[in-house]
Amino acid sequence: MTAPQQTLTKARILLIIGGGIAAYKCLDLIRRLRERGASVRCVMTKAAQEFITPLSVGALSADHVFTELFDRQDEHDVGHIRLSREADLLVVAPGTADLMAKLANGHANDLASTVLIATDKPVLIAPAMNPRMWEHPATQRNLATLKEDGVNFVGPNRGEMAESGEAGEGRMAEPMEIVAAVEALTGNHEKPLAGRKVIVTSGPTHEIIDPVRYIANRSSGKQGHAIAAALARLGASVHLVSGPVSIPDPHGVTTTHVETARQMREAVEASLPADAGVFVAAVADWRPAVEISEKIKKKPGEGAPTLELTENPDILAGIGHHKKRPALVIGFAAETQDLFKNARTKLNKKGADFIVANDVSHDSGVGPGGVMGGDRNSVVIVGHEGHDEWPEMSKEEVAERLAQLIADRLGPTQ
Ligand SMILES: Cc1cc2nc3c(=O)[nH]c(=O)nc-3n(C[C@H](O)[C@H](O)[C@H](O)COP(=O)(O)O)c2cc1C
Repeated sequence: MTAPQQTLTKARILLIIGGGIAAYKCLDLIRRLRERGASVRCVMTKAAQEFITPLSVGALSADHVFTELFDRQDEHDVGHIRLSREADLLVVAPGTADLMAKLANGHANDLASTVLIATDKPVLIAPAMNPRMWEHPATQRNLATLKEDGVNFVGPNRGEMAESGEAGEGRMAEPMEIVAAVEALTGNHEKPLAGRKVIVTSGPTHEIIDPVRYIANRSSGKQGHAIAAALARLGASVHLVSGPVSIPDPHGVTTTHVETARQMREAVEASLPADAGVFVAAVADWRPAVEISEKIKKKPGEGAPTLELTENPDILAGIGHHKKRPALVIGFAAETQDLFKNARTKLNKKGADFIVANDVSHDSGVGPGGVMGGDRNSVVIVGHEGHDEWPEMSKEEVAERLAQLIADRLGPTQ
C-alpha cells in the first residue's frame, strides 16, 4: 500500500486526551499523525483513562504517556513546562466541556490543564460532547473566550452521538479532519497539488416528483467528501459539488450544494476549467418527466399514479467530451454485477481516464453498512493501460490513495 504523504515531518504534537467517549478515536488519530511523520507525545486526564488505557496510547505513540502533575519521575524527566516547550502544537481531543471551561478560566489543577496554561504554542481543540452540553450557554461562553484568546477549533460535527437516540452538534471531528487542521497549523507539508484546481461531485441527487416527494438513492457522500478533503490536503483548490447529504462540508474546500442532477451538471460546468474532475456522486439516471407543482393526492378508487421517467444528463460523459475537458477525468461506477466489464465499457463511453469501480451489491462483503452509506470500500481502478485492484480499506484511505494518484498523474505544476 502507498504510504501517506509525509505532510507532518518534524512536527511535534502534544496530544491531550480528555475524558469522553470519543477518546477511542484518538488511537486512530495518533496512528494517522505518526504515519505522516509527526512525533506524538500524549497527556491523558484521569477521566480519559476511564475510556482508554495509557498502555494502548503508549503503544501507538511509542512514547511514555503523561498522566500526573505530581509525578517525581515525570517532573524530573520532562516536567509540565518542558512538555509544552517541546511541542510545536498542542491538540486537545476529545476536548471535553470541562477542559474547555478550565482553559477559558485559567484553571491549572491537573497535568492537562497546567500544560495548557503553561504553553506559548498554538492550541487546537476538537470538542466532543453531548449536544446539550455543547449548546449550554456556559460552554458557548467558554468557546467565545477561547477563540478570542487565539485557540483553534476543529469541529464539532453534527451527527449521531454514542448515546443511543442522541443526535445534534457535538460529535468530535473525525481523525482525518483533525489531521487536516494539524497540517494547516504546522504547515511544513508538501503540497504536490498546489496551483491545481479539481472539481469533485459527491452524494446522491434528489429528483423531484412533487413538492414533498423525490426519487433518491443510498449514497451518503462519505467517499466523495473524503476525496475532496484529501485533495485539499495535498494543496489543490477543490470545488465540491454535493448532492443532499447529512455529513459536514470538508475543511478547506469550496462546496456548492445542489439537489438535482441538472443542478449538479450546471454547477460542474460553471466551475470549468479545471485540471482534474472526480465524479463520485451517485447521479440519478432518470427523473420524473413532469415535476408536479402540487402534492399528488391519493384519490379513492383511482389506484396508484403512474410515474413517467425521462433520462437525466450524463455529467461524467458530458465532461469527458467537453471542449473544456480537464486533463484528468475520473468517474466512479457503482455496480452490482459484471463490475469489471461494465467499468471498462463506461471508461470508453464516457471519455474518462479512469473508472473507480465498486461493488455495491449487498453481498459485496465490505464492512458493516455495505459500500453505500458504510465507512469502507473495496475498489478496482480501471484505466486504459490496465487495472489495479485495491484491497478493502476505509473510504478515507481510498481517498488518500486516489488523491496521490491524481497528484502523480498531473505531475508538477509548470
Ligand atoms: C460515559 C461518560 C461519557 C462522557 N462523555 C463526555 C463527552 O463526550 N464530553 C464531555 O465533555 N464530557 C463527557 N463526560 C464527562 C467527563 O468525563 C467529565 O466531565 C470529566 O470530569 C472530564 O474530565 P477531563 O476534562 O479532565 O477529561 C462523560 C462521562 C461519562 C461517565
